[in-house]
Amino acid sequence: MKYKLSHVRTHFLDFNNSSVFKEGILVIGCFEDKVLPFNASSYIDISLFLKGLQSTSFQGKIGETLVFPYPVSGPFHHIILLGLGSLPLDSLQAEKAGASLYKILESLPSSSPITFHLENALGSTPAHVLYGCLLRSWKFEKYRTSVLQKYPFDSFTILCSHPEEAVHKFERLKHIIEGVFLAREVISEPSNYMTPKDFVTRAQELLDLGIEVEVLNESRLKELGFRTLLAVGQGSANPPYVLILKWTNAPIEDAPLAFVGKGVCFDAGGISLKPPLHMHEMKWDMAGGAAVLGALYTIAAQKLPINVIGIIGLVENMPDGKSLKPGDIITSLSGKTIEVVDTDAEGRLVLADCLWYAQTQFKPKYMIDLATLTIETVASLAHEYAGLFSNDDTLANLLTDSGQKCAEKVWRLPLGNHLAKQIESDYADMKNLGEAYAGENGAAAEFLKNFVGSTPWAHLDIAGVAWSKEDTIYARKGVTGFGVKLLEELAYHF
Ligand code: BES
Ligand code: MN
Ligand code: MN
Repeated sequence: MKYKLSHVRTHFLDFNNSSVFKEGILVIGCFEDKVLPFNASSYIDISLFLKGLQSTSFQGKIGETLVFPYPVSGPFHHIILLGLGSLPLDSLQAEKAGASLYKILESLPSSSPITFHLENALGSTPAHVLYGCLLRSWKFEKYRTSVLQKYPFDSFTILCSHPEEAVHKFERLKHIIEGVFLAREVISEPSNYMTPKDFVTRAQELLDLGIEVEVLNESRLKELGFRTLLAVGQGSANPPYVLILKWTNAPIEDAPLAFVGKGVCFDAGGISLKPPLHMHEMKWDMAGGAAVLGALYTIAAQKLPINVIGIIGLVENMPDGKSLKPGDIITSLSGKTIEVVDTDAEGRLVLADCLWYAQTQFKPKYMIDLATLTIETVASLAHEYAGLFSNDDTLANLLTDSGQKCAEKVWRLPLGNHLAKQIESDYADMKNLGEAYAGENGAAAEFLKNFVGSTPWAHLDIAGVAWSKEDTIYARKGVTGFGVKLLEELAYHF
């Protein structure tokens, strides 16, 4: 079975139980018992190898690696031992091992065919090892004019006892990888290459998978009354759009899942201008929207038998003579009025109209929004968990469980009257600002709750997990694509 994945710059990936390259790099999966997974005596000197192993501190822990460069005997120019811990190995541990393998491969001088012995691993482990390895491989370097580092392998063969099982499992995982990579790519593009219009074009190009793409342009948005979203975008030279993606693969009477994404292509703060220090990072403020795009891609590529709606509100939040100003009062699409106290709290304004539209138009079974919404969520949950706010325990539990399974963890935080009180306005139905350092992320969620009606809904604040200043297990520093795996996991079992 051979795969060609876009973004994975290798000739092929293969699960097999026989063929082996007699050159390049040999990788050996090794549990803590250090019993090697195969009869290797035909191409390495086993006793010499084991002796060498004894003189190291290698224990076989998950993701531990040991490199034997230029072994004297045998055809391989490197042998790598990859620790797999102890059985049973769960999918996340397998992914972690795969990701460490990638890091080591990347540090070696030349690109090579990889032969990876994993005959000792059971079930879907080989598929998850490859999945972790490939997720970690992604990087964004299209704007470099010289390539800093070669891709570390041109072919990758995993030898395992049940290749059919691995192939079957990888069928799902490969579509997730592509959805995650799509999201990462769209997020990483700087705002001069990823305006709301560019985002729309990108969605139209890529969603040739049976997804219906409806584009609401500025004049249509005016007709429909997306006044809050338009207010955020009115200071930008690049006009706003709302994208509506529809995947329909179940009877139409089956209520859909609705995913709503904040797609602020650049957030300067508007008239409530942000300080310059980290402002450039606000090119990533459409990570929620991109996660929705990636999730729809993944769901459609797998042809999941469900109905899903994706709604992405695309704007730029810029200071200008035409900008929204602090104190302005807007009548939202829902009819409720909003006093805009801080134009930098724009994400909730964009989402307000999108959420209202999603639930009134599509009557979803569940509605989930994703947004890089507040610094306060980063302050409380660091970079480990997305903040989850929900009006529905079943949905909240589903998301929490899904997050555990796919390593995109969420942590539920409370909604409540104490937060609703913070957004009471002296002049309008509500204001767009809560109390700094006192649950602002919850106040934002309470704000959103005004637009979801009685729909079971969850808000995921991904401000702390959408990108990382350091390498993580699944991604090098930069954007993570958080949300694609989580939404896919939920949809897969829906
Ligand atoms: N997009 C930002 C939140 C953000 C900032 C996420 C930095 C990740 C990193 C959002 O629009 C924003 O400006 N939030 C403000 C809200 C405040 C003005 C109420 C915040 O959290 O400081
Ligand atoms: Mn902002
Ligand atoms: Mn923002």
